[in-house]
Amino acid sequence: MKILGIETSCDETAAAILEGKNNKLKVLSNVISSQINIHKQWGGVVPEVAAREHVLHILPVIDKAFSKAKIKKDDLKAIAIANGPGLITSLIVGIETAKTLSYAWQKPIIGINHIEGHIYANFIGNDSILEKSKNIFPSLILTVSGGHNMLILMKDYNKYKIIGETRDDAAGEALDKAAQLLGLGYPGGPIISKMAKKFKEKSTINLPRPMINSKNFDFSFSGLKTALLYEIQKDKNYQNRIPEYCYEFQQAIIDVLIHKTIKAGKKYKVKSIMLAGGVSANLKLREQMASAIANNLPKIIFNIPNLKYTTDNAAMIASAGYWKAKDKKFTDWQKIKINCNSKF
Ligand code: KG4
Ligand code: ZN
Repeated sequence: MKILGIETSCDETAAAILEGKNNKLKVLSNVISSQINIHKQWGGVVPEVAAREHVLHILPVIDKAFSKAKIKKDDLKAIAIANGPGLITSLIVGIETAKTLSYAWQKPIIGINHIEGHIYANFIGNDSILEKSKNIFPSLILTVSGGHNMLILMKDYNKYKIIGETRDDAAGEALDKAAQLLGLGYPGGPIISKMAKKFKEKSTINLPRPMINSKNFDFSFSGLKTALLYEIQKDKNYQNRIPEYCYEFQQAIIDVLIHKTIKAGKKYKVKSIMLAGGVSANLKLREQMASAIANNLPKIIFNIPNLKYTTDNAAMIASAGYWKAKDKKFTDWQKIKINCNSKF
């Protein structure tokens, strides 16, 4: 079956067409129009500007997804749309477009939670989790993005339990804010990771690892950003030590993420661990998580989405759509609504 995915939760206007056959998912097209160059002058996403850009780009992006996939609307089984969480004004553009297409083309619609979409990026293509093993549940998913930071126990397709989440900033949000404090620009995650790579010695800066030893699986990264602010305020030479600050800040986040993931993996006796969300593009997190799992939970399957499906895209929304379509979780176009609740 072929699914059209649409994603407009934040600052990427995206459409993709995915073909699923016997649980093997092939991306026929994956088109993304990014607004990063527009928003970086303000150091973050301006919702009103994002919505206007989505309005301009949504139809050309969908058109391009069809022409690249070389299919027609009649070939579609359903339209999967990210209906939250995200910026309301941005989500509305995608949802209203999906509703209109659903009505005009007489195709069912499937509402996809954006975080769930990130999870299903793990199921796409030849290097997917299902290529590694058929026996993956229960699975533990660490979702790390700009807006969300959770540990989720996935018991089966479409069955989740949130076992931990951030009490304030998500990992990506902390990286974005730290980059802003250091005057490095937006988005912070890739910039901090590039800067950190330049530092090759042992860090003499000691930032905290917030909640690393707490008994639960929650996170908190807002104090880490404040600790960074105090450190640079004390340090007259900080402008010459930017790579070291980036290294230490990134490592503090990675240490907490890995520690909690391993602890949860052991407690819940999971068969697999997956990463999801924009921060899972971070090479140090990928490498260090892989080696921590190999050392502590050697029998567990570890999967990370292909790099191009880590940050916001519509292939992941179409992928989640495939598994929902298999469960016949269709909605009428009249009933689909924005749902900004991050619980799902
Ligand atoms: O999943 P995503 O595209 O959007 C949300 O759902 O929030 O994630 C965006 C976040 C941003 O905070 C960005 O700084 C971070 O992902 N990010 C990274 C990297 N690439 C993007 N963080 C660390 N390392 C990266 N390479
Ligand atoms: Zn996202």
